[in-house]
Amino acid sequence: MAPTNAANDAAVSFSINSQPHKVLKRAAGDDVSGDDVTSTTTLAEYLRRHQQLPGTKTMCREGMCGACVVNVTSVNPATGQPESRAVNSCMVPLQACGDWSIQTVEGIGNRKDGYHPVQARLAHMNGTQCGYCSPGMVMSMYSLLQSKGQPTPEQVEQAMDGNLCRCTGYRPILDAFKTFTGETDDSTKKLVRDIEEAAGCHGNSGANCKGTCAGCPRARTALTPAGSTWRVPSSLPQALADLSGLSVGGKTIRLVAGNTSTGVLDKYEAPADGYVSLLKIPELREVFGAAVTLSQLITELEKLSGSAGYRHCAEMARHLRLVANTPVRNAATWAGNLMIKYKHRSFPSDVFLLLTAARATLKIAEGRKMEEISVEKLYEISMANKIIISMKLPALDDKYIFKSYKITPRAISAHAYVNAAFVVPCDSATGKVTERPTLLFGGISGQFVHAENTERFLTGRCLNEASTVSGALETLRGEVRPEPDPELADVSYRARLASHLLFKVMIHTLGDKVPAHLRSAGQDLTRDLMKGTQEFETDKTLWPVNQAIPKLEAEIQTSGEAEYLDDQHEAPGELHGYYVLATVGNAVISSIDASQALAMPGVQDFVTAKDVMGSNDNVLMGQFVTFFGALGLDGKMVPTDQLFADGRVRFCGQPIGLVVADNREVARRAAALVKVHYSQQERPVLTIKEALINQPEGRQQTKLCPANLKIGDADVALEQAPHRLSGEWEVGTQFHFTMEPQSVRVVPNEDGQLNVFSATQTIKDVVDAVSHAVNVPSNKINGQVRRIGGGYGGKITNSLPVASACAVAAVKLNRPVRVVLDIENMIDMCATRLPYLISYEAGYDDSGRLLALKMHLVMNLGHSNTLLGFIEAMDVIQRVKNLYHAEHWTVTPGTVTTNQCLYTACRAPGSVQAIAAIETVMNHIAHELRMDPWEVRKANFAVGNPKIPPTPQSEDANRVVSLMVSEMFEKADIMKRKADIDSFNKSNRWRKRALAMLPMNYHVAMMSKMVTLVSIYDKDGSVAVSHGGVEMGQGLNTKPNNTLVNPNGFVTGGSVGSEMCSLAVRQACDQLKERLKPFRAPEGEPERPWQQVVQMASMMGTNLTAHTLRPWSQGYSVWGLTAAEVELDVLTGEYRFNRVDVYEDAGQSLSPWIDVGQVEGAFTMGMGLFLTEQYRYDPETGRKLTNRAWNYYPPTHKDMPRDFRVKLLKNNKNDVGIFNSKATGEPAVCMSHACLLAIQQAVAEARRDAGLNDWVTINAPSTVEYTETACETKPEMLVLS
Ligand SMILES: Cc1cc2nc3c(=O)[nH]c(=O)nc-3n(C[C@H](O)[C@H](O)[C@H](O)COP(=O)(O)OP(=O)(O)OC[C@H]3O[C@@H](n4cnc5c(N)ncnc54)[C@H](O)[C@@H]3O)c2cc1C
Ligand code: FES
Ligand code: FES
Repeated sequence: MAPTNAANDAAVSFSINSQPHKVLKRAAGDDVSGDDVTSTTTLAEYLRRHQQLPGTKTMCREGMCGACVVNVTSVNPATGQPESRAVNSCMVPLQACGDWSIQTVEGIGNRKDGYHPVQARLAHMNGTQCGYCSPGMVMSMYSLLQSKGQPTPEQVEQAMDGNLCRCTGYRPILDAFKTFTGETDDSTKKLVRDIEEAAGCHGNSGANCKGTCAGCPRARTALTPAGSTWRVPSSLPQALADLSGLSVGGKTIRLVAGNTSTGVLDKYEAPADGYVSLLKIPELREVFGAAVTLSQLITELEKLSGSAGYRHCAEMARHLRLVANTPVRNAATWAGNLMIKYKHRSFPSDVFLLLTAARATLKIAEGRKMEEISVEKLYEISMANKIIISMKLPALDDKYIFKSYKITPRAISAHAYVNAAFVVPCDSATGKVTERPTLLFGGISGQFVHAENTERFLTGRCLNEASTVSGALETLRGEVRPEPDPELADVSYRARLASHLLFKVMIHTLGDKVPAHLRSAGQDLTRDLMKGTQEFETDKTLWPVNQAIPKLEAEIQTSGEAEYLDDQHEAPGELHGYYVLATVGNAVISSIDASQALAMPGVQDFVTAKDVMGSNDNVLMGQFVTFFGALGLDGKMVPTDQLFADGRVRFCGQPIGLVVADNREVARRAAALVKVHYSQQERPVLTIKEALINQPEGRQQTKLCPANLKIGDADVALEQAPHRLSGEWEVGTQFHFTMEPQSVRVVPNEDGQLNVFSATQTIKDVVDAVSHAVNVPSNKINGQVRRIGGGYGGKITNSLPVASACAVAAVKLNRPVRVVLDIENMIDMCATRLPYLISYEAGYDDSGRLLALKMHLVMNLGHSNTLLGFIEAMDVIQRVKNLYHAEHWTVTPGTVTTNQCLYTACRAPGSVQAIAAIETVMNHIAHELRMDPWEVRKANFAVGNPKIPPTPQSEDANRVVSLMVSEMFEKADIMKRKADIDSFNKSNRWRKRALAMLPMNYHVAMMSKMVTLVSIYDKDGSVAVSHGGVEMGQGLNTKPNNTLVNPNGFVTGGSVGSEMCSLAVRQACDQLKERLKPFRAPEGEPERPWQQVVQMASMMGTNLTAHTLRPWSQGYSVWGLTAAEVELDVLTGEYRFNRVDVYEDAGQSLSPWIDVGQVEGAFTMGMGLFLTEQYRYDPETGRKLTNRAWNYYPPTHKDMPRDFRVKLLKNNKNDVGIFNSKATGEPAVCMSHACLLAIQQAVAEARRDAGLNDWVTINAPSTVEYTETACETKPEMLVLS
């Protein structure tokens, strides 16, 4: 029906997967029906919530994770040509989608119509694990194909720079997508043909619905409130008139170009009174028009760089490719970027620096007036009612050296610690600076841009004179005064970076005129395309066990059909909860005022501690209480947390209440209006070192855990050792960063039962916790989990309080309630990996043999004792041994409590810190003895040690370890590479390389119990399996895991989920086989068909369902060896891994591709722990300053080793594991410590050049800032000789 809507001028039309959609303004009395949307409804919300297209995921809602990427094709009003691109739907306002043709992952291929080649290849080449990132990956690649036809491998890597994956390590994703380049060999071509045939692929267009067939549903309509003002002018005068007209009376008006600033600093800005889109104005979309995106600007600059006077545009384009990431750059405009800096002066805008250095001028319009100003002048004028129209770029003579830098906490998709752009007019013959240079810096302060004094100093001087260099650097140091930026980096580092970048540009400008050993300082540290090899053996006689096949669910993951919790449709009347969290970390709540929030339309309730009908104490893993109680251990060690704080707040971020509203956005806005008043506020204790001041007992063996490792007499042996050393090493916490947020839905049933759908690794504990919280017996709570989008330990204890809080709200309101945390709340309130402080004393001889070791590992448990801490403490002291011979060792655990969340398990808990601790000692000894660190390790191996009486286990270990070592030395060419590295280091003062090797003995504890139900259906003999394991990427899924079948299950974790489930299933199958025996053909007769056997058995009343439980069992060792080679830029602290080889013993692998994927993924997560993932806090409140994807940095694919080789050791049968396999999900996290050791060795090389020969500890994470600081480069070292 045609709308009778009077405000029809506001209609916005677009299509989604070829189906027409319209947004109309609601007017009184019209009879148009449709969904209600608002001015700020994003495309992602519309797709997921209004159109039930949940294939498009959301996580960060700020352009960093790429889960929400869709493809958009629209006509450029300046050229009249269609343009196709990937965009982040989480930042696109629905009203800005006018005339767009939008493709989502569902639209390009699916189970019914056949998969798109991008989906099929990603699935079949093992590019998905938990699958939550996969739709976004697919749409980024699909968009590249739409815009580029056949891309190059470089373009593939570039296009994927906006998609994070926490599971895979990226290699298989890039491999799958690089098959679309022309550079594939014959075997890959054949593989691709087979994949596409199997997946029923339907070509490259993806247009499986034209929306023109008979019976196509009518255009869908959405409605905005009558009051909302969105203008989409098609001419500049109209835009200017709209801007001034709408802003009358002090109304706030937002110009909308890419709207990506809502992902940066405007994320939580209140909605404006009106919006004016700039996307349809042709002159703004012409070359260098203000609505030209950064991607288009890069293309134009690259084209221009071939023309005389514009060579510098190539450098500008190179730098712009480091701004944000591809989907962001596809929407973000350069003018929008300048205006972010206009609003937030300290924003380290790369665009501002580059355009200022290039002396660009801006054309700005206000009404009929037009003015042209420099970029810098923009920041001195009022921009009220003005629009930036375009920019002009003047030519720059070739005598100007144009160079820029951006130093970031990770390789891509991060904003700068410090950035800089330099224009140096230099006489190439004499090195003389012929006129005043331009030296611009970002990331220093809101005011500081030009290093004016240094510019003046350098004018007319010769760069190759020592006094020029020292004078310029001294002058710069005098004028660069960084403002404190607690969120990003220390002032002293940023000041040093400014000096070092100036030194670098001087060397760059002088080129061959500086001595050879300095030249690499002038070059950028880059990483070539990622490549890798994967080696494993498979025994065909065992297939399908041990066969390299893709996971069953892979295709539905890549097509977005795999359902995650928040993809579930809303039940009628379903409400949404949003947490109110404490904003201080150590205070008493004196009052809570939720009146403003409750007055907001759409808000239903505010739930706090007083509403909890059961217990407000959140008992984590309650099943252990009785167990440990029976052992006579102190009941107080059972962790206590609260669902909602009701007295003293123990950590900043602790939940205080839950606002419940009709939708999530209203709940979120209302939560911000809840006022909590505090009294008795004290400075929070945040770190182990701070805690030890008042908890000296943490220095001693823990009371919580009386265990220790005591072999021989360490005190006496230490006394007698020829050499002694001592040290301390710290490793921080790590956010699990699951791509799927913490999510739960609780739906009350008619008879008081509760259906609890939780994204958890432990549905049994969720049910226990909910039962405790709402005082309903467990048998009335139906827990269910289908799959989760990543766990890594983050969805064990963390999922319990969220489910309980949600259940309290659902019971109180008797309505279905859903709680899905956003990234800020997840980081603020959820438990993360336990941080450790390790101290050691070691005695050793000349050969590096460790004669005595005393080590104390202090854990930060968070705000109170935890059971997990207890378990970890018992385990960690054992794991310190790794594969070394312990003669006189005393290893003790200690614990402290702090004003932090109750820390929890995270992939390889305890083992990773323990192995890193002993490996740090090995490197320390090697450093003191000036020995090759590998030789020290060898001298300490327990394996092959003649002093140890052989056992079958030790002989097996000897065999495996010596095989690994000899293969690694040979295949990874270790000796030659070490020699090359030595000579590289001798000939490069400011670049250092190092190769570190780390051997591993990872103990897999089969601490789990898995229930399984196997049913044979007598109609056709088909079989259904349900088990207690949770699918999170390891290929474990069968039927949903629920608490009816699996009432007393266990956590899926510790790498043993697949094994334990498979063992339990085998037990059930054995039972069924036994029951079917009487119905099979007697021996000697031909086998009866399966279906016949089953039907006969069923007819005779045989139970064709077996329910079994696999209890805890004996553990085993996983052996591994890693060699990591790093290259370090000493002046900035940036590093790249040139090559990493990881060997791991997977037993007789169950499924080699899955195991390779687990090894790569675990290694990558460890790289994050040891290198980039840093928490920064406000010391006064304990607030986490790094609580967004914008400032918390898991590795991207560009952080991965350039050459990444993974090898599963030759089938090394494991008698204990299912089908002789071994676990692979966790061990490789430990081996990633080799990356940190390599950095430690490279830093030691740099320090040696600086005359510092002492040992320096490299704590984790060794961020770029930390690494540079450890090199201790002094100003007087920055010389040209
Ligand atoms: C994940 C992410 C990472 C990023 N990383 C970096 C980085 O490393 N370095 C960096 O420099 N930037 C970075 N950015 C910032 C990014 O470049 C900007 O968000 C983007 O350029 C803003 O452009 P836009 O078109 O989206 O602006 P919008 O969000 O549409 O607008 C931003 C502001 O500019 C105003 N505005 C827009 N156009 C005009 C105009 N023509 N005249 C007057 N006012 C106007 C708007 O009213 C608004 O106030 C990042 C952004 C994201 C989301
Ligand atoms: S949800 Fe859009 S980029 Fe993360
Ligand atoms: S598969 Fe990429 S996040 Fe899990």
